[in-house]
Amino acid sequence: MAAVVMRGCVRSSDTELTKTQECNGNEEKTVNEKINSRKNGYVKATNLNNGAIKMGGNYAGLPPMDWSQYDTFPGDFEKCSLWTAALAHLGLYLLMFLGFINKLLFTPKVATERNREGYAPLYNSFEQFFSRYLYRRVRHCFNRPICSTPAAEVTIKERYTDDYNWTFKFTGTERRCINLGSYNYLGFAEPTGPCADAAAEAVRRYGLALASPRAELGSCALHKELEETTARFLGVEAAIVVGMGFATNSLGLPGLLGPGTLALSDENNHASLILGLRLARAAVRVFRHNDLRHLEQLARAAIAERRWTNIVIVLEGVYSMEGSIVPLQGVVALKKRLGLQLYLDEAHSVGALGAHARGVTDHCGVEPGDVDVLMGTFTKSFGAAGGYIAGSAKLIKWIRAHGHAHTYAHAMSPPVAAQVLAAMRALRTPAGLRRVRTLRDNTHYFRRRLREMGVVTYGHGDSPVVPMLVYTFSNMAAVVERLTARGIATVGVGFPATPLYKARLRFCLSAAHSREQLDACLAAIQEVVDELGLQYSRRR
Ligand SMILES: Cc1ncc(COP(=O)(O)O)c(C=O)c1O
Repeated sequence: MAAVVMRGCVRSSDTELTKTQECNGNEEKTVNEKINSRKNGYVKATNLNNGAIKMGGNYAGLPPMDWSQYDTFPGDFEKCSLWTAALAHLGLYLLMFLGFINKLLFTPKVATERNREGYAPLYNSFEQFFSRYLYRRVRHCFNRPICSTPAAEVTIKERYTDDYNWTFKFTGTERRCINLGSYNYLGFAEPTGPCADAAAEAVRRYGLALASPRAELGSCALHKELEETTARFLGVEAAIVVGMGFATNSLGLPGLLGPGTLALSDENNHASLILGLRLARAAVRVFRHNDLRHLEQLARAAIAERRWTNIVIVLEGVYSMEGSIVPLQGVVALKKRLGLQLYLDEAHSVGALGAHARGVTDHCGVEPGDVDVLMGTFTKSFGAAGGYIAGSAKLIKWIRAHGHAHTYAHAMSPPVAAQVLAAMRALRTPAGLRRVRTLRDNTHYFRRRLREMGVVTYGHGDSPVVPMLVYTFSNMAAVVERLTARGIATVGVGFPATPLYKARLRFCLSAAHSREQLDACLAAIQEVVDELGLQYSRRR
């Protein structure tokens, strides 16, 4: 993509902008015209796939990678015993059978598919069945409203159901819990302190919203400062910020890729990446999670086909359902050897990994410039909202012109930009860097204690997302209920975010957690693990 942009529509001399141009001036107008001249803003692939990379025999003839030189560890994914897998399946089929009987006997309290001629069905029938008869049984563990900041502690609004989880009513009571469920990795989601003060000040100056997209009247000084600060923070030339993390991917990818592009996508990629690839109309081939040998196989086969003008690897820094970290050094070596391009989503890794909190490049010792497109969000480590794309100045200029979010979506809210700026500033101070170290220490401590309990955890030791496998939906619900009763807020995850029989608890650690809080959580988890018999690990 970066290479594509280099040879594409954007001339390098265009990257020097005058002050007025940056402030909703000429450049943005040209951008609008460019986009509006195409149907629905669709960017023709010829503008992107301009032959910057000619995929052909040259690369295919290269000797295979010597993977022994690289850390290719995909993460720890301990397999469960056959017995556990069989019981998990059996439990699932039993629930399905009961669901089927229920469906036969009772009409569900929801709109049903009318199957009208000429209309596509609204729902996939299996997912519909699944959500009504399996997911509904554990619905009380999801979508739980909170009424405080998602800091080290969080307040949950309590609810009850009198119709088997079809609907909920508030009890009028609240429960204060230790928060093991929010992505507040560095603890910047706090109601007081420099970040909250900066956000409040921005509201007083600019209001909550600028009532306009960036390309119209929606750019303010905070956006410009945030883009420059983000680029400096990540060690690249430029960055663009977008009001929503999900849209950064889903609307950014279509501006970068098009037909003629082949995306090699990790099987566990986030929905926003998958949607972005679909909207881009790129061809997609999926490689096994973090499996660099499989990625190499797919890349070589694609190159040998000689039909792709552009092959892009799309992956994440930290996988939030698996707690795994991408082996980035190996990916970058492969990309260089085969002349591929790399789109890296750092939603969960920026801030949470690396000695300087710069994410997985920092963590793995990779030059940020070796990644063509660095994407990330401000929703996790920065306790805010929105996302960024960072890389070369030409890439960012291209996205300003062709990324739909910049042109058509509302600009990032000023207090949100101020919060992120304050957090990035804090990360340049010793106190800020202490947060990074505390997060790492908390992560190592928590993971070690869970291992000692004999439960199965997934991923890498440094990942602050810690999945604990419980396999069945019923186990997942039982753990969430019991931990909530003990004053601990957690998140359970199951199908479709995970395979059907691999339900899990997903603990998110934070620099804001004190050791006492972690010990209290671990003591409660131990009680629940003992009560439900969740010591599935065979490594003890
Ligand atoms: C890998 C990844 N990318 C993108 C997003 C979307 O970001 P946001 O939640 O900020 O909209 C998420 C959300 O969790 C994510 O996990």
